[in-house]
Amino acid sequence: TERTLSIIKPDATKRNLTGKINAKFEEAGLRIVAQKRIHLSKEQVGVFYAVHKERPFYDELCEFMASAPVVVQVLEGEGAISKNREVMGATNPADAAEGTIRAEFAESVGENSVHGSDAPETAAEEISYFFAGLELVG
Ligand code: GTP
Ligand code: MG
Repeated sequence: TERTLSIIKPDATKRNLTGKINAKFEEAGLRIVAQKRIHLSKEQVGVFYAVHKERPFYDELCEFMASAPVVVQVLEGEGAISKNREVMGATNPADAAEGTIRAEFAESVGENSVHGSDAPETAAEEISYFFAGLELVG
């Protein structure tokens, strides 16, 4: 089975939506095998989102992700990476399919409630950025 890194972003933790978002994951058959609430520094976010360094919204994105606590988690299941992205919905909530997390909860293209890894290599990298092997309990 596959694993993916998920982040419940500050806009969602501030509105107390962690449980509702986790219910969406579990209803889709994804198992939460690791989870912790942390408050990232802007520098720590910058490293995590380094691939977006040249994008015009990079600074805004780093400020936002460091503005309040996040919940980082590892989701496990068959095809977990694509299944999670399906449950999340499109980046821009205006384009997100009905019933997806972003359609229901996201506030804008930037403050869009969740992050999910986009490929097996990035999933492995992102999981190891936040979790030690012993913290993953399948
Ligand atoms: P992630 O799962 O968070 O990586 O989202 P994604 O893969 O759907 O989107 P992408 O990797 O293209 O962008 C990463 C994140 O940058 C998005 O989730 C948004 O939070 C933010 N972002 C993307 N486009 C914009 C934008 O036009 N403006 C702002 N402010 N933020 C953006
Ligand atoms: Mg992405």
